[in-house]
Amino acid sequence: MPTKPPLTLYLAAPRGFCAGVDRAIKIVEMALEKWGAPVYVRHEIVHNRFVVDGLRDKGAVFVEELEECPDDRPVIFSAHGVPKAVPAAAEGRKMVYVDATCPLVSKVHIEAQRHSEAGLQMIMIGHAGHPETVGTMGQLPEGEVLLVETPDDVARIDVRDPAQLAYVTQTTLSVDDTADIVAALKARFPTIIGPHKEDICYATTNRQEAVKAIAPKCDAMLVVGAPNSSNSRRLVEVGARAGCGYAQLVQRADDIDWRSLEGIASIGITAGASAPEVLINEVIDALKARFDVTTEMVETAVENVEFKVPRVLRTPA
Ligand code: F3S
Repeated sequence: MPTKPPLTLYLAAPRGFCAGVDRAIKIVEMALEKWGAPVYVRHEIVHNRFVVDGLRDKGAVFVEELEECPDDRPVIFSAHGVPKAVPAAAEGRKMVYVDATCPLVSKVHIEAQRHSEAGLQMIMIGHAGHPETVGTMGQLPEGEVLLVETPDDVARIDVRDPAQLAYVTQTTLSVDDTADIVAALKARFPTIIGPHKEDICYATTNRQEAVKAIAPKCDAMLVVGAPNSSNSRRLVEVGARAGCGYAQLVQRADDIDWRSLEGIASIGITAGASAPEVLINEVIDALKARFDVTTEMVETAVENVEFKVPRVLRTPA
C-alpha cells in the first residue's frame, strides 16, 4: 500500500453550532414532540441542508411563506428572524406559532425599534435579501430602514436628517468589513448612533478569530457550511484574507475538490454556525483516508452561551 502524504490539520475552535442554532433546532424537535407531525417551519430553520433534511424526516414541513401553512397546525419561525408582519398574520389567523429567532437577532430588532421611536432614521448594515436583513428591516414600516452593504453605499444613501440617524447590523457579517462600513458612516454622519458593542454576535466573532489564528499556518482551508449561510461564507473570505492560499466552502466530504489539495502539507478546518459536528467529522475522516493526518486544535475562545427555548415548549401540551 502506498504511504499517505503527511498533513497537519489545524482544527479551529470554536467552530460549528452556536447557541442560537442549537436552540432553533431544539424548538422544532420539541414542537414535534409536543404537537406531533406535521409542524410547519417558515424558511430553513437554520441554513444547513443536512439539519433541514433530518427534521423533515421527523415530520417538519418547510415552507417559504406563512400562506403555505394551514391554520390548524403549529408553525415555527426560523432563527434568522421574521418581519413583524409575519407573527401579526399568524395571530390574525389564530395560528399556534413559536418564534425561533435567535435572541441575539431579537436584540437587534428591539434596538432598531427603540431608535426609530426616539425619532432616528435607521440604517442597516447587511446583505440584501438575506432573511435576517429582511426580518430586521421588517420591524419598521417599509422604506423606513436604509440598507448599506458596502462603504460605497454609504456615500450614495439619501437620509432625512444627517443628525438624526442610528445603525444596526446583521449578526453574521465580517467583523473587518463591517468596521470599514461603520467608519464610512461615522465619517459622513459624525453623530450617528450605533450599538454599544457591535451587533455581530459572539459566535460570528469567535469563529472569525479562530480562522485568523490558523489561516497563516495553512496551505488550504475547508469551511464546512452551506452556500446560503452568511457566516460560513464570511469564514472563507476571512481565511483567504488572513493568509491561507486556498479556502473552500464544502457542505460535506463529497464537495471536497481533491485536485486543489494536491501537494499541501497543512490544512485548516472550521465550520459555520449552522454546520453540525457530524459533517465536520465526515470531512476530517475523508482527509484521513488520503493523508497521514496529525491534528492540532487551535482554541481562541471558550463558549458557554446557552439560550432557553420558549416557555410554551417547556410546559406540557
Ligand atoms: Fe444567533 Fe449568532 Fe448563531 S446571531 S443564531 S448566535 S450566529
